[in-house]
Amino acid sequence: MSAPPSDGPRPPRQVVSFVRRGSRLTRSRQDAWDRLAAQYVLDVPRGVRDTLPAPEVRLDPLEVFGRQAPLVVEIGSGQGENIAAAAARDPGRDHLAFEVYLPGVAETLDRLDRAGAPRNVRLLPLDALHAIAQLLPPGSVTEVWINFPDPWHKSRHHKRRLVNPPLLDALGEVLALGAVLRLATDWAEYAAHMRQVLDADDRLESLHPEGPRPHGETTDPVPADMPALGWAPRFDGRVRTSFERKAQDAGRLVWDLAYAWRGGDHRREG
Ligand SMILES: C[S@@+](CC[C@H](N)C(=O)[O-])C[C@H]1O[C@@H](n2cnc3c(N)ncnc32)[C@H](O)[C@@H]1O
Repeated sequence: MSAPPSDGPRPPRQVVSFVRRGSRLTRSRQDAWDRLAAQYVLDVPRGVRDTLPAPEVRLDPLEVFGRQAPLVVEIGSGQGENIAAAAARDPGRDHLAFEVYLPGVAETLDRLDRAGAPRNVRLLPLDALHAIAQLLPPGSVTEVWINFPDPWHKSRHHKRRLVNPPLLDALGEVLALGAVLRLATDWAEYAAHMRQVLDADDRLESLHPEGPRPHGETTDPVPADMPALGWAPRFDGRVRTSFERKAQDAGRLVWDLAYAWRGGDHRREG
């Protein structure tokens, strides 16, 4: 992997949605990396941080995948359960996963191998929030998945949440008209925050305006203004990951959201 430049001016501070945990790989993950990274990981030149591409880098999906096909992007793919299963299940679509946690990327490589080495998937160990608009052409993405993003519970950290207006502006640069945005969280308070951010954006339209909230009680506090309707059913294509299992073991509900991208550039006021 290319290292970020060590001299020169310090990069401007950016609010990022992740904490870079260790990037040391266990022996089996290193082995997966050595065998499979060249096939799957897009090792683009890095910019001011090793999670950012150099300013001149662009990706052409036609070149990356060798064909034109609908493109699914997962942001924060973790250990790769979903992207690997989706790529194997759906050979007619291409899949791009952003994940900054390198052990997760290595685990994904191993999983792809076990899923029959699908050719319609690539991994980007980059900060999607600050890279996607630069990397991908306008209108190139037909579906985006954000499953169980880090909740950033403290109010002073809410600005670090991935699901916030800056992400929608970045996605707005790359989404095709009618593209679908699917999200899930196991934290009621983050679910309410997502609803506020997404419902306030005129460019998005709920796919389930009448959808009831998930059935049952949850062990975490539910904000008083939690909308009763507008929730998506559990996305069929979503594989149950360790994050979802832990949430369910702890008695928390999972909140699913789904929106279509309608375009335009007006965000609702208030
Ligand atoms: C709580 S985990 C969930 C992983 C996976 N989606 C799942 O359901 O198992 C959130 C993941 O998002 C990644 N992440 C957070 N912000 C990111 C960003 N801006 N770009 C890429 N990955 C990000 C983190 O490294 C972490 O692995």
